[in-house]
Amino acid sequence: MKRILILGIETSCDETSICVLENGKKILANIISTQIPVHQKFGGVVPEIASREHLDHIAPVLEEALLEAKIELSEIAAIAVTYGPGLVGALLVGLSFAKGLAFALDKPLIGVNHLEGHFYANYLCHPELKPPFIALIVSGGHTSLLHVADFNNFTVLGQTQDDAAGEAFDKVARVLQLGYPGGPKVDTLAQTGTACIPFPVAKLKGIYDFSFSGLKSAVINYLHSQQQKNLPINPADVCASFQTAIVSALVEKSLLALTNHNLNRLVLAGGVSANSKLRAELELALKQIDAQLFYPSNILCTDNAAMIACRGYYLYENGIYSDLNLNANPALRI
Ligand code: KG4
Ligand code: ZN
Repeated sequence: MKRILILGIETSCDETSICVLENGKKILANIISTQIPVHQKFGGVVPEIASREHLDHIAPVLEEALLEAKIELSEIAAIAVTYGPGLVGALLVGLSFAKGLAFALDKPLIGVNHLEGHFYANYLCHPELKPPFIALIVSGGHTSLLHVADFNNFTVLGQTQDDAAGEAFDKVARVLQLGYPGGPKVDTLAQTGTACIPFPVAKLKGIYDFSFSGLKSAVINYLHSQQQKNLPINPADVCASFQTAIVSALVEKSLLALTNHNLNRLVLAGGVSANSKLRAELELALKQIDAQLFYPSNILCTDNAAMIACRGYYLYENGIYSDLNLNANPALRI
């Protein structure tokens, strides 16, 4: 069998990552240089600093990836790179680097939508997984439900009308002063609390759409009201109650999408798919309808280049390449 090596490049937010992927399945190297410690003291990602960090790290990360994969650059079949959505300056570092490589090596450039990359991570972790299925993408910037009909054919059923799930986790963590990134901190603290505060989740017209800004405001209002009344605040209970509310909305809509489309596979993707409550509640709910849950390993849940290389592989197989004048698109949609 011919060996097809795709070089994946991801710089959409605060991770500089480069991967070498063999035949769309085997990860030869997936180097992730995270900037989390750099942004931690600011309580969130500072876009200008993120771009500069990517600039400093991208060449050494490539070198490390090639070394670990034990390959020469000339063996690469194509270069797959995230071109959106994300922070424009951060995206431009990866995209310009990828274009330079593609031009110098005379190899195809393949622009990849970061959100599509997230659910393709599942093809890496579960080689047996095949469409059709429903995908729930829950990241820091996006929350979408997709109907995936085939490897290169999917449609958006619904999405958030305001805050993304991860954004809501991060904002609640910030008001509780838990630090950044907030999602994992809320997840951990919630495990020691009780979901005793009835936070509301908005009901929307679009049956597959989400809205989390009201929930976030309800948490903030609750905290203010407790402070004003000199009443105690139990951060663990606040986290457990918030998490229960957000997870119940995600579970409810995912189940609706599965039953309405007569499907029995749900694929989770994006940073929030690492959430322990979301995984547990989905496992429970899917068991009752004889459906199966798939999610990537923790390292492939958050931003990484392997998922970008995997999406790139399927585009490569179909001869779908990008022009060298491809631009970064910070608001790219599926
Ligand atoms: O997919 P991702 O790495 O980056 C984006 O493309 O946005 O997702 C990052 C988001 C952050 O909001 C982070 O707080 C959230 O995923 N996250 C979690 C957990 N781990 C990461 N949210 C809830 N529970 C977690 N365990
Ligand atoms: Zn992401």
